[in-house]
This record gives sequence, C-alpha cells and structure tokens, in this order.
Amino acid sequence: MKTYKIAVIPGDGIGPEVINEGVKVLNKIAELDSSFKFDFTYFPWGCRFYTKHGKMMDDDGIDQLKEFDAIYLGAVGFPGVPDHISLWDLLLVIRKSFDQYVNLRPVKLLRGAHSALANTKNDDIDMLFIRENTEGEYSGAGDWLFKGQDNEVVLQNAVFSRKGTERIIRYAFEVARREGKTLTSISKANALNYSMVFWDEVFEEVSLDYPEVKTASYLVDAAAMLMITDPKRFEIVVTSNLFGDILTDVGAAIAGGIGLAAGANINPKRKYPSMFEPVHGSAPDIAGKDLSNPLATFWSASQMLDFFGYEEYGEVIVSGIEELLSTKELLTPDMGGTATTSEVGDKMVEIVTSQI
Ligand code: NAI
Ligand code: MG
Repeated sequence: MKTYKIAVIPGDGIGPEVINEGVKVLNKIAELDSSFKFDFTYFPWGCRFYTKHGKMMDDDGIDQLKEFDAIYLGAVGFPGVPDHISLWDLLLVIRKSFDQYVNLRPVKLLRGAHSALANTKNDDIDMLFIRENTEGEYSGAGDWLFKGQDNEVVLQNAVFSRKGTERIIRYAFEVARREGKTLTSISKANALNYSMVFWDEVFEEVSLDYPEVKTASYLVDAAAMLMITDPKRFEIVVTSNLFGDILTDVGAAIAGGIGLAAGANINPKRKYPSMFEPVHGSAPDIAGKDLSNPLATFWSASQMLDFFGYEEYGEVIVSGIEELLSTKELLTPDMGGTATTSEVGDKMVEIVTSQI
C-alpha cells in the first residue's frame, strides 16, 4: 500500500478548525481506497509558537519538512505578531526554500456558489490563475536607509530572472495546451519599463514553442476591469507574484467569496514537497467559535489529490462542495447558513462516502 506522508501545519486562528475537517475528508477517502493511505504529522508552528519561542518555526524546520510528500497548511497570522513576520518567517520561507514556483489558484464559479457579479452563469467564470510564486515583487530584496531620519529612504526591489520568468510562463503554456484552452498573460509593461517589458518579451518568445495555444496579453489594470465586466474571456492566466495575489482576490469575490478560494504551491519537479492551503487568512474575528467555512480547505485537499494523480477523487471533493452549495442545507454563516465547521465536515465525509 502506498503511504503519503503529509506535514500538517494548522497554524493560527481558524487554521486548526478548517484543517481538522480537511484531514477528516482526506482520511475517509484513503479509507475507502485500500491502495493508499495518509500519514499525517502535525507541526505546532505559527504565532502561538512565536510568542513562546520568538520564532515562527523550528530553526531546522525546512529540514524537517523536506522528507514529506506534501504540506497541508491552514493559515498563519494573529494580532500581536506583525503580519510581515508571520508571513515571511513561515509561509514565504517554505514557498521559496522548496522552490514552489507555481501557485495554482482556480477561479471557478461552482454550481450553487454566489458570485458578486449579477446575472452570471457558472460557465462564465472558469479560470485557472498560474501565479509566479518565488520572486518578482515578493523577492524580499531591498533596504531601509536612514530609518526615522529626514532623509529616510526605502527600497523594495522586484526581481525577475530569466529562469524564473521563463519557467512559470512555460508551465502555463503546458497547461493551456494540455487542456486546449487560451492563455492570457497579465503584466504592466507601460509603467514597469524593465521588469514587465522583459516579462512580455519572454511570453512572446515562449509562445513560439506553442503555436497551437491561443494567447492574449493585458495590462494588469485593464485585466482587473475585464475580470468584472467580461470574465468569460479568461481561461488559463499567467502573471507575476504581486499581480496574481491581488487579482485572485478579485477572483475570489466573483467566484463565491474568500471562504471558497483555494491554492496550491507546486514544485513541479517534485524535488521538494508542494504545499496546499486555503487562500484566506486566520480570521481572528471568528476564531474558536466553530463558525469558519472549511470549503476552501476541502478544495485545496482536492488539489493535493490531483497532484498525487487521484484526479477522480479530487473531482469527488469539488462536486461534493457543489452539492453542499446547491442544497444549502449545511453551510456556515459566511455562506448564509447556520451550520458549524464540524457539521460541514461531517456532511462532506458523508458525501464522499456515497460517491466512492
Ligand atoms: P482573513 O482572510 O483572515 O479574513 C478576512 C475576512 O474574511 C474576515 O472577516 C474573516 O472572518 C472572513 N473569513 C476568512 N476566511 C474565512 C472562512 N474560512 N470562513 C468564514 N469567514 C472567513 O484576512 P485578514 O483579516 O486580512 O487577515 C487575518 C490574519 O490572517 C492576518 O494576520 C493575516 O496576515 C493573515 N493571513 C494569512 C494568510 C495565510 O496564511 N495564507 C493569508 C491572508 C491573511
Ligand atoms: Mg493574498
């Protein structure tokens, strides 16, 4: 029997609540298929760990995680610890150390989900964002000079390497070709006269290797508008770290809300573990009340199953989410229901059991 070793980092706030339900669902699927199982190892890292130990994770945390097949993460961040510390010292360290250079974020209006856009059909919103995840605007390069003085200066540099830019664009072309879809590149070459001119050039270059893929290219501001006014025109989308971060929040709004947005941080060569997580944060305002919506965490579990090659089970989870959304019986308050996090999890386990 194949065993997948999963490192679980529940994190802060609602992280542990939603991850609990996700683990329940994954365990049920493995129980129903006797050919594989999951071996979950929990890591107590995050902001509570920080207040005790003065760091977000163990010093050798990356070494500890290296041997796992995947990482399943809830959310990190909590009042009392500055957000740039909780983000940089845990999440971004993992993404960069494990070269998880592909961030896959589906922006898809599931059956039964409520779009912030009026009169939208499910088929109108069906995108896959492929966001560069290791460099660009989030390279962390910069300086803070003359702090607190009159001549204070801060530098926050974007880094676009040939290797980093080309590999994310090539990955996106591969997906577009495999799925027979169009590929849209989003940049900003009019204002960012080095980085984004370079991005556009690399996109043009790589496109020559994929003559069968139909492409489009937009400036990020126009793209933000078009996602609202004409979402149908986007299928596979490739963009930089910052633009992808912002646009996928627009995506979450038009595709059912932050409680549904999922993301996978992929190391395509599988040299290091990939990481699966809901896009939302730790929601301190509702933490500890069993009110958090676990659907995004289920969706990221389905991305993990896809990654391991069990697409049929990934599909069972996504259609299970659609069933929950359509029947509206068991939804959390953010989705207009009255169910608790664990009730939604139990129902999902029931749906999965009936489908496998
Ligand atoms: P947030 O996503 O935690 O919350 C925004 C709003 O959405 C809140 O009203 C919250 O109650 C609601 N919400 C989010 N997820 C929900 C869910 N599953 N079910 C029901 N309601 C949900 O973003 P916010 O408030 O900006 O950040 C809170 C903390 O989380 C900060 O410390 C931030 O740094 C961190 N954060 C961590 C992320 C991660 O671990 N990937 C991503 C975003 C924020
Ligand atoms: Mg974000």
